[in-house]
Amino acid sequence: MIQIQDLNKSFQGLQVLKGVSITIEDREIYGIIGQSGAGKSTLLRCVNGLESCDSGKIVINGTPVDVKDKTSLRNLQRRMGMIFQNFNLLERLDVYDNIALPMKFWGMKTNTPESKEKIMGLIRLVGLEDKVHSRPRELSGGQKQRVAIARALVLDPQFLLCDEATSALDPEITKGILALLQRINEEMGITVIVVTHQMEVVKQICCRVAFLSNGRVLSEGRPEEMFIHPEFPEIKSFLREGSELLPDTGVNIQLFFTGEGSEDPVVTQMARELNKDFSICWAKLEDFRDKVYGSLVLNVEEEDRDRVLEFLTRTKVQWEVLD
Ligand SMILES: Nc1ncnc2c1ncn2[C@@H]1O[C@H](COP(=O)(O)OP(=O)(O)O)[C@@H](O)[C@H]1O
Ligand SMILES: [Mg+2]
Repeated sequence: MIQIQDLNKSFQGLQVLKGVSITIEDREIYGIIGQSGAGKSTLLRCVNGLESCDSGKIVINGTPVDVKDKTSLRNLQRRMGMIFQNFNLLERLDVYDNIALPMKFWGMKTNTPESKEKIMGLIRLVGLEDKVHSRPRELSGGQKQRVAIARALVLDPQFLLCDEATSALDPEITKGILALLQRINEEMGITVIVVTHQMEVVKQICCRVAFLSNGRVLSEGRPEEMFIHPEFPEIKSFLREGSELLPDTGVNIQLFFTGEGSEDPVVTQMARELNKDFSICWAKLEDFRDKVYGSLVLNVEEEDRDRVLEFLTRTKVQWEVLD
């Protein structure tokens, strides 16, 4: 378990983290999302001891991290695998040797039968059996990230920290990498921390998410809660899309079909009961891990506003009038 308590960090007088407190439970996939410059990478670097903080505490498995104690810092970093947007592979080494690198760094032999089995097992896990002796330049972006993931796992870490790991990849490749992270979490019991500016990433794999804005945690919770009931306008505008396509006359009402009541034929019932036709001007299916939520925007005439809202209040769907 990772407890981040009231963390503050400045660079040359500019405060980048402002009293950040987050608790990440064992074996969860935790997302940290926010705009570029929000402080996400700095927070991650404080967690794995690459950066020291000005005040506050990071407690890992009950033990506070002391970045000044070199031995405990090295042991901490050994328990944390890390992957990045730009993969950070060594061009002069092949796939096998890139993955073996952390073992070399720790003075472990990489050509013993056990080491070979370990490395080959990871190569199979990430699906690169036919690329064992390829150089990074011969690999696609997705394949490079798979090598980086295998390398991050070679010392059997407890945590896997991912900093914009899919930001340089196209959507299909991103899905494959996220599915791999999910498998690593479920099958190996590794806690995964995902830093990203992409809500799609959080929606696909995270159990919980913190929204970081300007060095502060604005909101924390389940991704679907944050998406459907954003607490602040800046979260809403960051997370939701499509509003620029909506009609500028009448009233736009967004409906969310989430869990209870989501099977009810609300729109057709409303049309019949109010004896009105409604146009649907935007609709989307939202995937959250294993759940799919529907969302659509109805445009109604201003004079029908009260009757429509009164009807919706009686249903189980979640709704919101868009400005
Ligand atoms: N080593 C550094 N020295 C000075 N400023 C930094 C350093 N690292 C990050 N910053 C600044 O801290 C802020 C947050 O950066 P960062 O943590 O990289 O944000 P994010 O990962 O959310 O994009 C930015 O304004 C950035 O310029
Ligand atoms: Mg960053």
